[in-house]
Amino acid sequence: MSARLDDLDVDGRVVIVRSDLNVPLANQPDGSVAITDDGRVRASVPTIERLRQKGARVVVLAHLGRPKGQRVDALSLAPVGGRLAELLGAPVTFVDAVTGTDVADAVSHTERGDVILLQNVRFDPRETSKNVDDRRELAAEWAQWADAFVSDGFGVVHREQASVTDVARLLPRAPGLLVEQEMASFARVLSDPERPFVVVMGGSKVSDKLAVIGHLLDRVDRLLVGGGMAFTFLRAEGFQVGESLLEEDQVATVQQVMDEARRKGVEIVLPVDVVIAREISPDAEFRVVSVGEIPSGWKGLDIGPATATLFAERLDDARTVVWNGPMGVFEVTPFADGTRAVAESLAASPAFTVVGGGDSAAAIRILGIDESRFDHISTGGGASLELLEGRTLPGLAVLEETP
Ligand code: 3PG
Repeated sequence: MSARLDDLDVDGRVVIVRSDLNVPLANQPDGSVAITDDGRVRASVPTIERLRQKGARVVVLAHLGRPKGQRVDALSLAPVGGRLAELLGAPVTFVDAVTGTDVADAVSHTERGDVILLQNVRFDPRETSKNVDDRRELAAEWAQWADAFVSDGFGVVHREQASVTDVARLLPRAPGLLVEQEMASFARVLSDPERPFVVVMGGSKVSDKLAVIGHLLDRVDRLLVGGGMAFTFLRAEGFQVGESLLEEDQVATVQQVMDEARRKGVEIVLPVDVVIAREISPDAEFRVVSVGEIPSGWKGLDIGPATATLFAERLDDARTVVWNGPMGVFEVTPFADGTRAVAESLAASPAFTVVGGGDSAAAIRILGIDESRFDHISTGGGASLELLEGRTLPGLAVLEETP
């Protein structure tokens, strides 16, 4: 059992907090940059706030995008620092460097309760280097002015990177409040779920989700499949899917998964109707057809209303639900209803509801559904998938290591 945040001695000390501030940005007509979904910034606030209250001098490390070890101005964390300051209601000093004298100077001038955000750690090639010595060198440069490390970037705990694992090994460490909450929610669904336990899977690529489905087949009672990945399941059941997303090379594997599910008594529920169009566009002509009737030249872009009703029925008695992946192209209005319907069913459900991060979490916010109606909305995309696959995540394992 790792130390808890409140066990760390932080009063007057410099505490590094690794947050996941990897948020979507969009250029505005006036030349400024807007954060289109600030969910991760908001989720990072409670830990930073708690540390400030306890007198810590907080230095936040985070990444944005994948700049591959080089400075990429469009991936500067400066705009994110501005949003963090607004949410904290306190100044955040942005230092446009990852390491070096500017950083050391800024840290040395902090007082109790101050917050510094360093530049995108992935501007330094050592952050993501495969060579452990490179990563350790960068981690040591941070550790020389720090007294403790708090791991709160749940979205990156599946990464073996300098700011996630290597710096953790050099300092007294603890998980932040977000990482604790994420771990507790996933532990509850994976170790002792109240039944019926229903998983709703969507998203485009079935190949990304097969390991998760394989791990969950021993645990769940029912699996509802929507989104682009459903077409590979439907093809495996013998349906023609027109121009819909199809991973032909996965059809045989999906058939095996369905056979295994039957053997294990897991009910698999597939769409019965779909919204189809020839193109993904807000003014595309669209129709609702049953899954056996997708004409060639048309593609399925959302589950249909009969499927939404069927999924709502199959969620009705659930006591635990995990939802990962949208039911359709929810960003484009004609294809948003299926995702909205599933989100509403979950929001209304008395079950313990966990929403996997990435697109399904974004969908809830973009569709304007009240986030407080879900028990847990994960901030991790890849990290939450790897947890659901039953893998050990290096950024969590390091917190358990004996210092
Ligand atoms: C994410 O967006 O899932 C996390 O921030 C991790 O980003 P990465 O996949 O680039 O490591």
